Amino acid sequence: MQIHLLKIKSNTLIADKIYKLELYGNFDLQEFRPGRFLHIKCSESLDPLLRRPMSICDLNDNGDLMTVLYRAEGRGTQLLSQKQAGEILDVLAPLGSHFELEQNKNNSKILLVGGGIGVPPLFYLGRKLKALGHEIESVLGFASAKDIFYENDFQALGKTTICTVDGTHGQKGFVTKYLSSDYDTLYACGPNPMLKALQEIIPADKRAFISVEERMGCGVGACLACVCKTQNLEKYKSGYVRVCTEGPVFAIADVIINH
Ligand SMILES: Cc1cc2nc3c(=O)[nH]c(=O)nc-3n(C[C@H](O)[C@H](O)[C@H](O)COP(=O)(O)OP(=O)(O)OC[C@H]3O[C@@H](n4cnc5c(N)ncnc54)[C@H](O)[C@@H]3O)c2cc1C
Ligand code: FES
Repeated sequence: MQIHLLKIKSNTLIADKIYKLELYGNFDLQEFRPGRFLHIKCSESLDPLLRRPMSICDLNDNGDLMTVLYRAEGRGTQLLSQKQAGEILDVLAPLGSHFELEQNKNNSKILLVGGGIGVPPLFYLGRKLKALGHEIESVLGFASAKDIFYENDFQALGKTTICTVDGTHGQKGFVTKYLSSDYDTLYACGPNPMLKALQEIIPADKRAFISVEERMGCGVGACLACVCKTQNLEKYKSGYVRVCTEGPVFAIADVIINH
């Protein structure tokens, strides 16, 4: 993990409040693995003071172009959305744990389940798993048609079901309504209510991993802002985990989702 000063290739609006940020760099593919995240300084000044955590949505096979998708919502991300091509971004990375790819047996069936701005890290994961020869199915949920992004990109990986809460595109309702049970490993990222619902319905004998979002301060394990309770006391003896350091990726049963 180190500070990288990365040149912006592009920063463009691709859906309602959703931006695609492309960054040039010299990224070590062994380090910048699916599931890990960047801690981005959104302004030149000390306001806002805290960096913003963002997942890696994709990294090309040469390791010289990274994609991040983000929703411009609060002050930090709105400032980020004003950055122009050619500007330099201060990024602390790579941080956190990654999705395990190697544990899948040959030709596994993979189910990716994403909700809203939790969808981006699943794309890089899915692309890597497909390259390893696995079969990818994705079920992605958004609030409404205007919020959808990367539909075609996921379709290029395999069967993709899009759900919207209001039914304005694809299937109507939450992702949990459209999950098949025919998979070997499930990977999910999305809002806490979605992750909680998955914890309730995924059978205990299934291999399943979730990427958890928590408010963050330092991003490197020092401030404890991101702590969650765990029920895996064998692995995490204190009963608590830091989402920025032990996570954000956990086995589905390991974390107690806060809210
Ligand atoms: C591991 C991880 C990966 C993430 N990946 C993405 C991504 O790829 N794209 C994306 O759009 N968003 C992602 N998020 C959520 C994103 O970090 C927050 O939406 C963002 O920090 C909000 O900043 P803001 O300036 O818009 O909001 P503000 O309201 O101005 O933020 C205020 C403070 O709260 C923190 N904060 C607010 N909401 C969140 C949140 N949901 N998670 C963590 N900190 C929060 C901010 O970091 C900041 O310190 C990720 C979060 C985590 C933990
Ligand atoms: S954000 Fe500081 S310990 Fe996790």
